[in-house]
Amino acid sequence: MKHSVRPLFSILFLLVVVGVLCVRVTLRNGYFQLENETPFEEIAKFRVDNETLLKYASIEISEPKWKQEIEELLEGKFGNQGGRHRSFLSSGNNRIDIRAKSARGLPVQLRSPEFYRLWLSFQRHLNDWSKNRKFQSDIMVDLVNVVKDLMNKNNEGLGRKYESCAVVGNSGILLNREHGKLIDSHEVVIRLNNARISSFEGTVGKKTTISFVNSNILHLCARRQGCFCHPYGDEVPMIMYICQPAHFLDYLLCNSSHKAPLVVTDPRFDVLCARIVKYYSLKRFAEMTGKDLELWGPTHDGENFHYSSGMQAVTLAVGICDKVSIFGFGKSPGTKHHYHTNQKAELGLHDYEAEYDFYRDLVARPKVIPFISDKFKFPPVAIHQ
Ligand SMILES: *[C@@H]1O[C@H](CO)[C@@H](O)[C@H](O)[C@H]1NC(C)=O
Ligand SMILES: *[C@@H]1O[C@H](CO)[C@@H](O)[C@H](O)[C@H]1NC(C)=O
Repeated sequence: MKHSVRPLFSILFLLVVVGVLCVRVTLRNGYFQLENETPFEEIAKFRVDNETLLKYASIEISEPKWKQEIEELLEGKFGNQGGRHRSFLSSGNNRIDIRAKSARGLPVQLRSPEFYRLWLSFQRHLNDWSKNRKFQSDIMVDLVNVVKDLMNKNNEGLGRKYESCAVVGNSGILLNREHGKLIDSHEVVIRLNNARISSFEGTVGKKTTISFVNSNILHLCARRQGCFCHPYGDEVPMIMYICQPAHFLDYLLCNSSHKAPLVVTDPRFDVLCARIVKYYSLKRFAEMTGKDLELWGPTHDGENFHYSSGMQAVTLAVGICDKVSIFGFGKSPGTKHHYHTNQKAELGLHDYEAEYDFYRDLVARPKVIPFISDKFKFPPVAIHQ
């Protein structure tokens, strides 16, 4: 008995070792690991009509909620924001938050001329922004000019795209390799949501050209003296997307105190990103489960469903760069969720798998990506892992 068990055990042991080695090799050569996974089409069990997907992807479930929220804000009602995110001005009982600071660090008094000016400006910007929040397939063609116009004080280099861009996501897979030098060799390095670089330079590099954040990040910084929000230095421009309309106030409070430009993403670009991610999420849902698309909403936190900051930063890079390299996106077994935190899981409002499908298409067959006009020329995209 003992004699026959031993060889079997050894073989099993060998298989495990080989298995581990294979995984290692894939990680080492894992330049395109996202791609090497079984293409989604091959595991899809059900076929879904493309037209139907496009139609559903164009419906914005959260639209009525946004409309109502914006209307209330424009009427000066700050109390009904409720839920997880409390508005800047709300302290739970419809009163102005006296902790709100003006750009110079002075308390903003209710009805003070300073507050009144801020208020008028808030109304005007929110109004313009919400009117502009509609689908336009050509936005990718214009993106480089829109962004450069806002980022360059002297409008230099308008129309020219950046030669090469690295988008650095925050996945723990970054810790598998030392990509720091490679990342820094790009003309533009885009980092996400103020992720820490100090003591991770070998892994993530030290250069930052654009700091891309969601407005929740700025909202937290806005409460600090001087809107302090510059882990990469106060000369680095920030691009931010608005996750809640009330955050326009944070934007206006902080804009004047920032040395480098603070840019809000074009709302037409937000709408485009939302549609693309929703399309990929619907596709995955329908082709994996065969369920009716009507059921997508209830299983994906319908109203709160949102693209991730990483997805919009990648799409931004695709619009403004001649060559895009993606780092720190994706997961592999045993790696941390974020390279720089101990956060365990992700909030349920993103569909990362769907976003990976989108990145794979960016690399391998950008022509099939919906909602982007044919006039747009996709740059080469590489995923590094
Ligand atoms: C933000 O600040 C910049 C530079 O100070 C200024 O040009 C721009 O008009 C400001 N934007 C808003 C909306 O106030
Ligand atoms: C679905 O439609 C979009 C938009 O017309 C197109 O770009 C894409 O190639 C189509 N996808 C498939 C799988 O037919």
